[in-house]
Amino acid sequence: MYLALRVRKEKAEKLRRKVIRLKVIDKSRRIIVNQGYVEIPVLKKVELEDAEIIEQASPVFAKPRFNFDYVKEKLSDLLSKEELKKFRGGWELIGDILIVNLPDLQKDKKREVGKRLKSLFPKVKTVVSRKAIRDEFRKPEVEIIYGSETITVHKENYCFFKIDVSKLMFCAGNIEERRRMAFISNRNEVVIDMFAGIGQFTIPLAKHSKPKKVIAIEKNPVAFGYLKENIALNELDNVNAILGDCRKVTPERIADRVIMGYFFTPERFLAKAINAIKKHGVIHYHDLAKKDEIEAKEKKLKEVKEIKEIEHRIVKSYAPRVYHVVFDLKVER
Ligand SMILES: C[S@@+](CC[C@H](N)C(=O)[O-])C[C@H]1O[C@@H](n2cnc3c(N)ncnc32)[C@H](O)[C@@H]1O
Repeated sequence: MYLALRVRKEKAEKLRRKVIRLKVIDKSRRIIVNQGYVEIPVLKKVELEDAEIIEQASPVFAKPRFNFDYVKEKLSDLLSKEELKKFRGGWELIGDILIVNLPDLQKDKKREVGKRLKSLFPKVKTVVSRKAIRDEFRKPEVEIIYGSETITVHKENYCFFKIDVSKLMFCAGNIEERRRMAFISNRNEVVIDMFAGIGQFTIPLAKHSKPKKVIAIEKNPVAFGYLKENIALNELDNVNAILGDCRKVTPERIADRVIMGYFFTPERFLAKAINAIKKHGVIHYHDLAKKDEIEAKEKKLKEVKEIKEIEHRIVKSYAPRVYHVVFDLKVER
């Protein structure tokens, strides 16, 4: 759902400034003129004088700053046709670090590509090539091809995320789900984030929804260190961070909402999540599935007696024909 404020042209500039002041403008979409009215993209429903909140029929997305075809063209004198063919997408800009997915190249050539990318994107401080993501901690395997610094602060939806990209993951493709989580809760809720990472969901949710408390659990001490730093960086006083395995440390019967942001065999953790919910609540259950498997997954989840209703949405494409899906489970005991 892409929300926008619809306003008459002569009132648009004043409203735009107000929306920026309120920190609700959605920078991933452009301000557009549609049938004589201006549409200002916003992150959540806001009631403002002279404006009407609408769902945009045809949102226009801000152009990614990194155009892959353009980059390939600019590398065509450095890489052979074969190498260019193997240079696939999957690039990410995290803070001022550019992450690409280079094919196997000689070391010198990689350095040349790194230098060229730096010259194309002068604000980038470091360029890394990411090969694989390993183990349950989701540790990336990266090689620096320009610069040296791998720690950065990524800004998104008025939140700050400090991260070392050589040790931890921040998935740019989950941006819409992070935005959804930011506004999903309210001041009365207790929320548990069972796989908090560096705070990818915890930080925006705690900052924008302002629930009573977010309990953020993380098993990896490195990620946990950044989670603590990010809580401080975002000046949050409603987050309790717990270092440990969520199967052992998740508190029982205190949550209105549980986020299970870890999609490798999540069924192993479901009973713990259900136990964490009070009398009723919602679990955001992440999983991987092919499109034709989603229905069967829903059916299986419905067999759990505490799960009363299920809705799902696709977060992103994960691999050929495999999707990252989030199931919103309404739980009652
Ligand atoms: C891929 S990250 C996802 C972070 C965030 N939820 C998101 O979706 O962007 C998954 C995190 O779960 C943590 N993790 C894995 N198993 C865990 C467990 N049993 N208990 C707590 N954390 C765990 C990993 O260390 C990692 O930081």
